[in-house]
Amino acid sequence: MDQHLTVVDHPLIQHKLSYMRSIKTPTNQFRQLLREISHLLAYEVTRNLEMTTKNIKTPMQDLDAPFVAGKKMALVSILRAGNGLLDGVLDLVPSARVGFVGLYRDEETLKPVKYYFKVPKHLDERLVIAVDPMLATGNSSAAAIDMLKEAGATNIRFLCLLAAPEGVALMKEKHPDVPIVTASLDERLNEQGYILPGLGDAGDRMFGTK
Ligand code: URA
Repeated sequence: MDQHLTVVDHPLIQHKLSYMRSIKTPTNQFRQLLREISHLLAYEVTRNLEMTTKNIKTPMQDLDAPFVAGKKMALVSILRAGNGLLDGVLDLVPSARVGFVGLYRDEETLKPVKYYFKVPKHLDERLVIAVDPMLATGNSSAAAIDMLKEAGATNIRFLCLLAAPEGVALMKEKHPDVPIVTASLDERLNEQGYILPGLGDAGDRMFGTK
């Protein structure tokens, strides 16, 4: 098993993902399904958070109760499709700080072009979870992680909905220290850099822009 990659093949995730893949699924359902899946993925990507205990009183007695330790979290959405995952993860971790990396893919070179970068301060003190539904060529994701490391992040995880083997390989080469959590490892990319079997353009399907 590749420690760098976790495929969360929970039945609920796979069921919802099949609806998301279907061309028949309209925008409103697509968005709702992504939100639901991101709750389940958030559960996995935060699985081994450091814990501490605090003494509380239940109505019955004292208890050294478990709480997530003080280490703060930053969620970084890779725009624009990242926002679909971001909302669901924020539902579960509402106190996390939030950052945005704006990259678009040059359709000819398939290389990422940066247009926006705003992240919380003191990234070195936070667990940083970068979110983008589609890990395709890996160029944008690897570039976004480069920027987060330049901004000080040292503890980064990458959360996506679908991953292509090409993207996973690039991330492993460039960022072996960044574990990836995904709902599916798909077959391959087509000539335009789209994931097969995939679900099409995640941003367009999420925002109804096609
Ligand atoms: N981005 C998408 O939205 N879909 C793909 O298949 C690849 C990249």
